[in-house]
Amino acid sequence: MTRPPLRIATCRPLPEPDVDEDLLLEALRGAGIDARMVAWQDTAAWAAPVPTLVRSTWDYIHALDEFDAWIDRAAAVAPLWNPPSVLRWSLRKRYLLELEARGVPVTPTVLLPRGDPRPLSAVAAERGWDDVVVKPEVGAASFETHRLRIDDPAADAVCARLVAARDVLVQPYLPSVEDHGERALVWIDGAFTHAVRKTPRFAGGVEQVSDALPISAAELATGTAALAGFGDEMLYARVDVAPGPDGVPVVMELELVEPSLFLLQSPAALERLVAGVVRRL
Ligand SMILES: Nc1ncnc2c1ncn2[C@@H]1O[C@H](COP(=O)(O)OP(=O)(O)O)[C@@H](O)[C@H]1O
Ligand SMILES: [Mg+2]
Repeated sequence: MTRPPLRIATCRPLPEPDVDEDLLLEALRGAGIDARMVAWQDTAAWAAPVPTLVRSTWDYIHALDEFDAWIDRAAAVAPLWNPPSVLRWSLRKRYLLELEARGVPVTPTVLLPRGDPRPLSAVAAERGWDDVVVKPEVGAASFETHRLRIDDPAADAVCARLVAARDVLVQPYLPSVEDHGERALVWIDGAFTHAVRKTPRFAGGVEQVSDALPISAAELATGTAALAGFGDEMLYARVDVAPGPDGVPVVMELELVEPSLFLLQSPAALERLVAGVVRRL
């Protein structure tokens, strides 16, 4: 019997280890799939018509236009999961504003376009925020993510430095990330499978992740609202939530491109992902 081939899109070198990688490869191969890791920048490899699962393409945040073009190239020759429309929508975190407009609870967010001359202190004062987070609109792994107090005389300059180079998000600091913690809600092929708690992480920091935790009814409601409107073609998603100012879980991030899925914490999630791939192949 020939084993159907599958490419798993990654990047090399990986900026940090991918704990899901070996587990997933082994499980896919166990299911009879000839799965191989291929860096998205490995141009020669992408001409062959092989279905592709996007996973650890974590360096695209530094080459967004190239990655965008890669999505088209990869999807032109074979199926790509998640599909291009889903990937493209979630590359830029202005999707938070779109979710907010749809009534989904999200972290309050102001988008400062690159070159915006407004000082951080003025933007924050207008919203009544005195403890804020600034971060690139296109980011991962807490790249250039800074918590700033507005009475810190250096705060405006930190934000201005970011805005000079890129579109930036300003948000109130959510203190709930310290006690309750940010929870990553993992969704695979139509259902939420598990959650993990992540420790707060800012630029240069490391993140600790818990064992699998149950998803509360309130988290499920926010997660479900965030993913409403995506069709059956979506294979995986992660909705990162934390209690907002009024205690309701808000979406901090919706990861539809290259989320860690914390498969080590949930054999059931791994099984569901493999089954979803097998069915699509
Ligand atoms: N508004 C916020 N309040 C509290 N902590 C935040 C906030 N925004 C980001 N963080 C911290 O920074 C981390 C990275 O931010 P996030 O928006 O998840 O971007 P990414 O994971 O893409 O780098 C979060 O996991 C969280 O620990
Ligand atoms: Mg995150």
